[in-house]
Amino acid sequence: MCGIIGILGQLEAAPRILDALKRLEYRGYDSAGLTTLLNGKPIRRRAVGKLSALRQLVAADPAPGSTGIGHTRWATHGAPTVVNAHPHAAGPVHVVHNGIIENFRELREELTEAGCQFETETDTEVVAQMVAHLMAGGAEPFEAVSRTLDRVSGAFALAFLFKDQPDLLIAARHGSPLAIGWGEDEMFVGSDAIALSPMTSEITYLEEGDRAILHRSGAQIFDAEGKPVKRARRFVAVEQSMVEKAGHKHFMAKEIHEQPGAVGLVVARNVSADRSRIASPADALPWDRISRLMLIACGTASYAGHIAKYWFEGLAGIPVELDIASEFRYRDHPLLGDEAAVFISQSGETADTLAALRHVTGRVQATAAVVNVVESSIAREAGIVLPILAGPEIGVASTKAFTCQLATLAAAAILAARMRGRLDKAAEARMVAEYIELPRLLTLALEDEARVAGIAQDIAAAQDVLYLGRGPMFPIALEGALKLKEISYIHAEGYASGELKHGPIALVDESVPVIVMAPRDALFEKTVSNMQEVMARGGRVVLVSDAAGIEAAGDGVWRTIRMPDCAPWLAPVLYAVPAQLLAYHAALAKGTDVDQPRNLAKSVTVE
Ligand code: AGP
Repeated sequence: MCGIIGILGQLEAAPRILDALKRLEYRGYDSAGLTTLLNGKPIRRRAVGKLSALRQLVAADPAPGSTGIGHTRWATHGAPTVVNAHPHAAGPVHVVHNGIIENFRELREELTEAGCQFETETDTEVVAQMVAHLMAGGAEPFEAVSRTLDRVSGAFALAFLFKDQPDLLIAARHGSPLAIGWGEDEMFVGSDAIALSPMTSEITYLEEGDRAILHRSGAQIFDAEGKPVKRARRFVAVEQSMVEKAGHKHFMAKEIHEQPGAVGLVVARNVSADRSRIASPADALPWDRISRLMLIACGTASYAGHIAKYWFEGLAGIPVELDIASEFRYRDHPLLGDEAAVFISQSGETADTLAALRHVTGRVQATAAVVNVVESSIAREAGIVLPILAGPEIGVASTKAFTCQLATLAAAAILAARMRGRLDKAAEARMVAEYIELPRLLTLALEDEARVAGIAQDIAAAQDVLYLGRGPMFPIALEGALKLKEISYIHAEGYASGELKHGPIALVDESVPVIVMAPRDALFEKTVSNMQEVMARGGRVVLVSDAAGIEAAGDGVWRTIRMPDCAPWLAPVLYAVPAQLLAYHAALAKGTDVDQPRNLAKSVTVE
């Protein structure tokens, strides 16, 4: 999704804007631009493609001034062209926007009839045009912005700059995140703390509906009704090292290799000091009084929920309803009122997941957020927050966040089992002893990377790839397929092994690699039968299993990937690693943009 930055500074704004936009690249974009003010005169520079194009343009044709706004655009309405790139301008107004103005056509018609001349195909331009139109009628900037936002429907985070107003920025948020940064006689606005961190660590997250007037001396914040409000100023540390590649070729590679440490932090925070029991903030949920648990998320996060379903049902005996948020939010759902609903989201800003949370808030017994960004909208609006402690995840493809989500949910499931009387102390201690093995096991799973990379080279030539798994390995098959398609652009599908004969086996021939995720567990024999049906039709099977599994069924398969032995219930966490590595190395072979795959954004803040 789009990235926003605004600066009322003491130094030249353009270089700082470009650095901030660089830190927002992970959100995904296809054009970028900035406007600075010099002696009150706006200077706008915009370019299609990567930030390097904008940087070159500004180097060749400088944009001086210590006041400015900048933007990375992920195209929603209108192709990625220079004309459609932000900032958009009308009269004295320049604006950058993250989100979608849903009623822009109606507003555009109204403004066109009033004589406004539009130059772009975008939804955002109507905001600039309406503010300029109202200012032409005598309204002051903040009044013009407020009256405009009262007319607008949809999701927006906005930053406005005005000709002849070098000490004024106006910011507003509704549905898309936006933060204010506090400096020394400087003020900033940005999409997140990562963008602002080189300039300040003192951050205020605007709440839903907030509007803010910024001067170098500070900020005044107003709620949606126009009442002045105070919002918390937090110290948010984003160390430089957390947003650099640390010697890796890509952020995704770094984040794959950070998993033992990141999951180790989750394990440490979710286990008692004597390592005999779980100690998770999930104990604030009424596990012994809920009739049903709802797990709701999008994409990879939904696969984490899918795996957790097996844990909550098998360990805690709780009926679990799993939903993808974009479907759940529009279903006429017969809620009983005594459910708990848990929303899983790395960014905590995914529009569908946030809307699903709002859909049930006040209608179920409890809500919780399993998130990486604890200041995010989903975290702030859920009843309880279960932080996954993964640290900033920059690569668009979710890796360490996924395994940290799983480790967080696993702890909650053990705790729920205890609270529902299904685990006694000894049994919980045994599970905790297995749980704390995760960092070591993940390290072992990463050791086989060279072999996995070799297999990925062969897979990279395929047009279609199938992933198969049973039980909690079925969501890992789904996740493996998603990883491969989203960063290598190879078509891949994940299937429950038992579903093969109900259609997908028609796809199988010698050109189709079939990745079988099958630890030697209770379902192994069943999966091996499915695997042999694939091999009988020439399918090239990659068997991902432990030593016993490969011993039992590895003969004749095309390739094997050997996994460390582990407690069966932990296998889904470990088998995420070969799924990630296969995708990463296939993408390397394909030469795609691994950290910022085409068409994708890190956080989908529009529906
Ligand atoms: C996963 O690799 C993708 N980046 C995507 O499916 C992602 O998991 C999904 O958009 C949900 O994002 P969230 O966890 O920030 O809500």
